[in-house]
Amino acid sequence: MGKSILEYETVDLDESDGSIVIIDQTRLPARTEVIKLRTAQEIWDAIYLLKVRGAPAIGVTAAFGIYILAAQTADEILHFEDKASNSFFDIFYDKFKEQKEFLNSARPTAVNLSWALERMDRVCRQAHKAGKNLNEIIELLGREAKEIKQEDIRVCRAIGENGLCLVKPGDGILTHCNAGQLATCKYGTATAPIYLGQERGYNFRVFADETRPLLQGARLTAYELHSAGVDVTLICDNMSSMVMKNGWVQAVFVGCDRVAANGDTANKIGTSMVAAVAKRYHVPFYVCAPTSTVDLATPTGAEIKIEQRPAEEVTEMWYKERMAPEGIKVYNPAFDVTDNELITAIVTEKGIARAPYKESLSFLCSGGK
Ligand code: MRU
Repeated sequence: MGKSILEYETVDLDESDGSIVIIDQTRLPARTEVIKLRTAQEIWDAIYLLKVRGAPAIGVTAAFGIYILAAQTADEILHFEDKASNSFFDIFYDKFKEQKEFLNSARPTAVNLSWALERMDRVCRQAHKAGKNLNEIIELLGREAKEIKQEDIRVCRAIGENGLCLVKPGDGILTHCNAGQLATCKYGTATAPIYLGQERGYNFRVFADETRPLLQGARLTAYELHSAGVDVTLICDNMSSMVMKNGWVQAVFVGCDRVAANGDTANKIGTSMVAAVAKRYHVPFYVCAPTSTVDLATPTGAEIKIEQRPAEEVTEMWYKERMAPEGIKVYNPAFDVTDNELITAIVTEKGIARAPYKESLSFLCSGGK
């Protein structure tokens, strides 16, 4: 039997040749193609084209990315023996900032991208301030990037534990897009309670929205949950209302790309529609997000920048032939904002935030339980 998709690393570092290793998610589920990224352009393209996607996985890729690029810069600037000196830091750091800005421009909505890059930048500046040489700075950057990945695994598991308290064995759970293992380094966020429930014999019945236009629900969520042996049913996005009206869903779990300070949350396009329907049928709607996705500097959802994607994703991608008239106007926002009043709770690794979110989120993010 072949290797299960869950046995692959979503994002990894190959230190033997200084590359990032990812599964090209645009080919799933038909082909499991593992690819290597080495240049800034390759990393940027992989994020923009959604070869690697999902807010936490994008953050980890960016951290590994800026690390391998920094190591390349150090190699270009200096010979090994010179790396022990401090004098080339300014040239090194100018390039570091340039590459950081470039990677950060790949996708605008998921805050984990800038969050991870800022964290790496902080390590760089602090190490320099502490008198470390380039060799030592590169080593610290590598350590930080690996820690960001390990942290993601711990955080997702903790989100799973917290989310599992909100449901009971046998429940029906609906999810939208892919906030699964393929969007993180393990467990996922929205799927973490499902995976932990599976470990404990909860026998959830999961409904996965296919998630037009890029089909992350069909290609990724249905695929990974099915591979894990979870009872999962794929539905088109326009079927979630019927499924909820039928009483088949006891909770909705979705992921998130950015949580504003007031609890408005940006997630894959269509999420706010699911939230409105859930409210209509009195189904609790839970947003699962690591605190790294909470952006207290963004007051409300109105200030979240929503990524616009190419028209072809709607008109022809996935089809044998074009399915819309040539020249038709297309509106293709990749995300929408769910208003905080539609959200029953936000499940983080540090605990569960409920309204009023301004208070509960800042309490959790400042280390509260
Ligand atoms: O465009 P994508 O596939 O990157 O969108 C992904 C989502 O919207 C996820 O729900 C979100 O990033 C959370 S992933 C744990």
